Amino acid sequence: MKNKIAPSILSADFGNFARDVKRIEAAGAELVHIDVMDGHFVDNLTFGSGVVASLRPVTSLFLDVHMMVENPEKYVEEFAKAGADGMSIHVEATHHIHGALQKIKNAGMKASVVINPGTSVDAIKTVLPLVDMVLVMTVNPGFGGQAFIPEMMEKVTELAQLRHEKGYDYEIEVDGGIDDQTIQLAKNAGANIFVAGSFVFKGNVEENISKLRSKL
Ligand code: DX5
Ligand code: ZN
Repeated sequence: MKNKIAPSILSADFGNFARDVKRIEAAGAELVHIDVMDGHFVDNLTFGSGVVASLRPVTSLFLDVHMMVENPEKYVEEFAKAGADGMSIHVEATHHIHGALQKIKNAGMKASVVINPGTSVDAIKTVLPLVDMVLVMTVNPGFGGQAFIPEMMEKVTELAQLRHEKGYDYEIEVDGGIDDQTIQLAKNAGANIFVAGSFVFKGNVEENISKLRSKL
């Protein structure tokens, strides 16, 4: 599968999202990763669908919305209308993961299921035939700048094997602590979409994206 870089605007300048998104697009990133947090599912607050609506006319990049909110099914229509291309929802955040993923697909977005570091692949086996992407968290969600948890690579390998055995076609994304070293571990384990926040936005964005790309 094609390797893709997904800078997270959680580490961008909150007063200059449009400028920063144009910058990552010019530098060759494939997706914009948008971290939505509600202060309940995680101990942090970010922003809602308004930011997606404002970024939609600014970029043609895939808008990859990562919902760190409880009961994300409530917001599906709203984010689809705002122009999100894909929505990732945590299996830990809803009692109705299958229905919620179906709702995302019916709204015309790519549907993705996310597992926290403490959640095993077994918890999402029944929805794997349904999803376009699986997001394996490589840190506990809530904040940028945390250390990559290498043990998560076993889950990436397991997901890549299952895809092969069962003929599924989801992409595998990793999120948290990705830099020019850990990206290689994730790639070797079988991931093909790499979210990076602090590594991309600290210092020179163009150089940082090239450093990541050179390891793929
Ligand atoms: C964490 C978010 C990440 C975050 C990653 O809850 O889901 O997308 O922005 O940041 P870094 O790359 O700094 O670990
Ligand atoms: Zn994220």
